Amino acid sequence: MCGIIGISSDKPVSASIINSLKKLEYRGYDSAGIATLSDGNINEVKSKGRVSNLERNFDIKNLKGNIGIGHVRWATHGIPNSVNAHPHSSHNVSVVHNGIIENSTILKKDLINKGHNFKSQTDTEVIVHLITENLKTTELEEAITKTLNQLQGSFALGVVFKDIPDLIVGARRGSPLAVGYGPNENYLGSDSYALKSMTNKITYLNDSEFCIIKKNQINFFNDKGKKINKKILELSSNELSSEKGDFKHFMAKEIEEQPTTVKTGINEYIDNVNKDINIFNFPWKIEEIKSITLIGCGTAYHSCLMAKYWFEEFTSLDVNIDIASEFRYRKIRFKKESLYIFVSQSGETADTYAALDLCKKNKMKTCAVVNVIESSIARDSNFVLPIHCGPEIGVASTKAFLGQMLILYILALKFGSLKNEIEKNNYQEKINDLKNLPSLIEKTLLVDNDIQNASSTFNDAKGSMFLGRGFSYPIALEGALKLKELSYVHAEGYPAGEMKHGPLALIEEGMPVVVLAPRDSYYKKTISNMQEVIARGAKVLLITNKSKDEVISENIWETIEVENTNDDLLPFLLTIPLQKLAYYSALKKGYDIDKPRNLAKSVTVE
Ligand code: M6R
Repeated sequence: MCGIIGISSDKPVSASIINSLKKLEYRGYDSAGIATLSDGNINEVKSKGRVSNLERNFDIKNLKGNIGIGHVRWATHGIPNSVNAHPHSSHNVSVVHNGIIENSTILKKDLINKGHNFKSQTDTEVIVHLITENLKTTELEEAITKTLNQLQGSFALGVVFKDIPDLIVGARRGSPLAVGYGPNENYLGSDSYALKSMTNKITYLNDSEFCIIKKNQINFFNDKGKKINKKILELSSNELSSEKGDFKHFMAKEIEEQPTTVKTGINEYIDNVNKDINIFNFPWKIEEIKSITLIGCGTAYHSCLMAKYWFEEFTSLDVNIDIASEFRYRKIRFKKESLYIFVSQSGETADTYAALDLCKKNKMKTCAVVNVIESSIARDSNFVLPIHCGPEIGVASTKAFLGQMLILYILALKFGSLKNEIEKNNYQEKINDLKNLPSLIEKTLLVDNDIQNASSTFNDAKGSMFLGRGFSYPIALEGALKLKELSYVHAEGYPAGEMKHGPLALIEEGMPVVVLAPRDSYYKKTISNMQEVIARGAKVLLITNKSKDEVISENIWETIEVENTNDDLLPFLLTIPLQKLAYYSALKKGYDIDKPRNLAKSVTVE
């Protein structure tokens, strides 16, 4: 969470820092701030709320300086206000920080005893005063090394110094940080996305490393303060842009992009001539893999759950799924013959990264399913399967969900084929069906009107439920998550068959309930469960697939039909109306669709 930018240039930097902060808002948006160095001063301007507030701040217009740091915040310690906004400064040092300093209380006590004054409620301010304290007795590099060794917890830092006005220090442990190379200027950023408009030449810092950035030179150091060399990478360019174009919101654009992103994913992995799946350079023999554990958070976890159904359908592998924040603290019995798959759009989610790190330390086989191929999770996994969705800016994950499901579906099919557990004709038929998926998604995207009408009912209700069985159950969870995060309506996803074991008590007259009942092998059972909720007064929005047979049930409030395909691809189509339901609910309420309250796109704190 939170975004960092730093620029050291031969020209004024405040306008470029503001522009980069706007791009970084997806990482946090409860306050923003900037500090530049000029005429022997640290100039600090901070505002509560969005970067646009900072931009309107009178002081920004007069902010001089060819070197500066900026930050967008997602609050952890201290309420979101301008005092707690970053940068935090002492008389000679200014710091922006992502992450959490776990020993800040002890360090603060000690620093107060030494005469330091604190202004904010943040843990970050401790770093500022520690550096100031260490600079009293040591030179820059040693002071930084000493400070980093005193900090516990996770951090990515950008630091500027009143008395050393030609450089920025960047440092990381746990939170990602990149540097970028430009003409007569160099950059620091919490991710490559922040730097993409300025450069495609990037170096990533590894844990415990720090760097010193001047306008025409960058030096890297290890945790002992010893100079090291690092590689410069050229970033891939994405043909799917990170601009909104004619769309009102990124989310709307990203929903509509799904036929294209799914098509790209299919083209990347499917060999049309041989009707086969290509997973190039897969580093293990299939016999070495006896079980699979899929790990993710939020929407990514839902695609893991979806994948469990597919892997179990096509292979005899033992399939486990885990929420990263649970996995990392449990007593896991690691199995050598298991493949650990980490699913993450950003590739920077702190909990998912920590779970990967744990697997790495236990020498497990690790595979990343990510959108951002330059991300920490991608870089630190043994093998990477990119989802090829292009930048996803809306905080609510949409096209990345379909992308993750697609790659996991393809992987499950391939494993089934390699293990000879899926019959060849069936395998090739499924590959054929995949080719039609983009056009079916495109047609399903036309469900707009019905969904718009239904969304008001969800907004007016005090709660709602999303039910599904089998392949539709993970989609019910995802539909409920989308509605909660965008329209702040209580929504619960449930396996339809579980209702009678408790949640049925929640159903009352007029409560909106989404029932996902495609005509698959679970259809009849789900329809029975639907009748149970209708009988208790629920207003059912049934989502099924097109068929010549009518749905045999009375008193369904609304029915929405998606296109038809084989049972295991239906989840892709069922997702579309649920994304739209959440979108239109939030739109009607006038909420900030791309930046829902209290959330951030990339969750880099645990
Ligand atoms: O970047 P990741 O896929 O690792 O992010 C995981 C979750 O934070 C993310 O999916 C979150 O649940 C979304 N906001 C849901 O729309």
